[in-house]
Amino acid sequence: MYDVLIIGSGAAGLTAALNAKQNGSTVAVLSKTYPTHSQTVQAQGGINAVLYEDDDSIDIHVKDTYKASCGLANKDNINFMCKEAKDTIYWLDKIGVPFTKNESGNIAQRKFGGTKKIRTCYSSDYTGLKIVHTLFDQCIKNDIKFINEHTLLDLIIDDNKCFGVIALDIIEGKVKEFKAKSTILASGGYAGIYTNFTTNSFSNSADGLAISLNSGLNLSNIEFVQFHPTALVNSNILVSESARGEGGYLLDQNENRFIDELKPRDEVARAIYNKIKANEKVYLDLRHLGLEKINEVMPQERRLALEFSNVRIEKELLPINPAAHYSMGGIKTDINTRTNINSLYACGEIAQSSIHGANRLGGNSLLEIVTFGKIAGINASKNAKEIKTFDDNKSKELLKQQNYIKEIYSYKNEINFYESKEYLGKLFFDNVGLFRNEENLQFAINELDKIKSNISNMGIQDKSIEYNKNLLEFLEFINMIEIAEVIVKTALNRKESRGAHYRDDYPKQSDTYEKNSLIRKVDKELVLSFEDVL
Ligand code: FUM
Repeated sequence: MYDVLIIGSGAAGLTAALNAKQNGSTVAVLSKTYPTHSQTVQAQGGINAVLYEDDDSIDIHVKDTYKASCGLANKDNINFMCKEAKDTIYWLDKIGVPFTKNESGNIAQRKFGGTKKIRTCYSSDYTGLKIVHTLFDQCIKNDIKFINEHTLLDLIIDDNKCFGVIALDIIEGKVKEFKAKSTILASGGYAGIYTNFTTNSFSNSADGLAISLNSGLNLSNIEFVQFHPTALVNSNILVSESARGEGGYLLDQNENRFIDELKPRDEVARAIYNKIKANEKVYLDLRHLGLEKINEVMPQERRLALEFSNVRIEKELLPINPAAHYSMGGIKTDINTRTNINSLYACGEIAQSSIHGANRLGGNSLLEIVTFGKIAGINASKNAKEIKTFDDNKSKELLKQQNYIKEIYSYKNEINFYESKEYLGKLFFDNVGLFRNEENLQFAINELDKIKSNISNMGIQDKSIEYNKNLLEFLEFINMIEIAEVIVKTALNRKESRGAHYRDDYPKQSDTYEKNSLIRKVDKELVLSFEDVL
């Protein structure tokens, strides 16, 4: 039994782990992959903070963030994050994140979208990766236990209180129980559902969110999915916003600029997609920056463009398209990262912490995950200290999940679920993507229903026990289907356009919908409603 158990090993989970440990708790981090594989590395371009107040202020950072949220965020939460931002950066700097420095030796900043200010701190174009590697080093130094290659199956909940989790040990193929006084969910978002149309890795399959929904947690604003304007054509590998922040242009096929490149992501992504739908190509032009600057500020983008698109960005135009990148919705949390279940916390992309609302500013995700990762770690640790007696008997969920895995082995294998997963990605990009309308959303719901009704004919081909990737991917697919249904149904329910959710049948923002979507399961049925933004 641990004091604090953390599910997910991206920057949110690792920050939580360090803070819980420093507060005297025994801590373990359970993760499907390895910390260095986490989605945090896709936040390449930077992390926002007002460090120098000559031309910027915390108040302007708050206003920019709130404006991007289109009214669906809590100003106090934003204020807290933005006020803490400077300390957050200096803490990261102190523990060893190699931020790029300016000529005076101070942390350098670059431009990002959705603001006129220069407030994004960076580590070349590897910011998320450097942060996650540094946090991981610190966790090792602090003797934090890592339980890698374990996928979450269930939360142990009794009387509205969490007692840990059930997970599948992927290597041994065994279902195991991990008890904890406090549990923190930090296992990432759900943009990976847009298979082949996403910047997310294959492992981003909404597991934590699907399991939370089925365990009685309240979810919020799942309809809001952010499409990053620039991904490489075909591979959909991210081309960081920093490429535009450093002066890159977006060009149409006549080599004309057609949008202010640093408008909020939703506007830029829709402008690009409109061109692509009209069978035009869109390019990122970085040639005028020159090789020296490119190598200094975006070496990764240069390497990726060459490796995956065979384009030398210092000489040639780079074809790009938008791709699903980030999910604004998640488990509903308060400013203390608490969920509606006692002793259960959530932070990072899995949480809807009332910061990003309908649209997120680039550079605010790394800031949010580190800020609230710290809060989660501290609060989970405090909670654990207050628990004096703990029931360490075997949970009912353990047997339930052992039986469930056995049952999956008995499913027929008549339909290839990998094909259905690819179909789901395309179905969602085309119908639940940058532009939505009732007809397309209803079509996606009908198609999803067909997939769902066939799940027990889509079983696994590989019946081995140890290291069964086929089983893992099947479990992921089921989680994706679960949350896909929530995305499309909440998108259908929101009859307006707001931020990243654009309905061409309701193109205007409506005051009636200046509310958060609330998603729950009651008696296994999905229940959707709206609630005031608090
Ligand atoms: O474009 C980027 O570098 C991504 C950053 C982010 O998602 O915050």
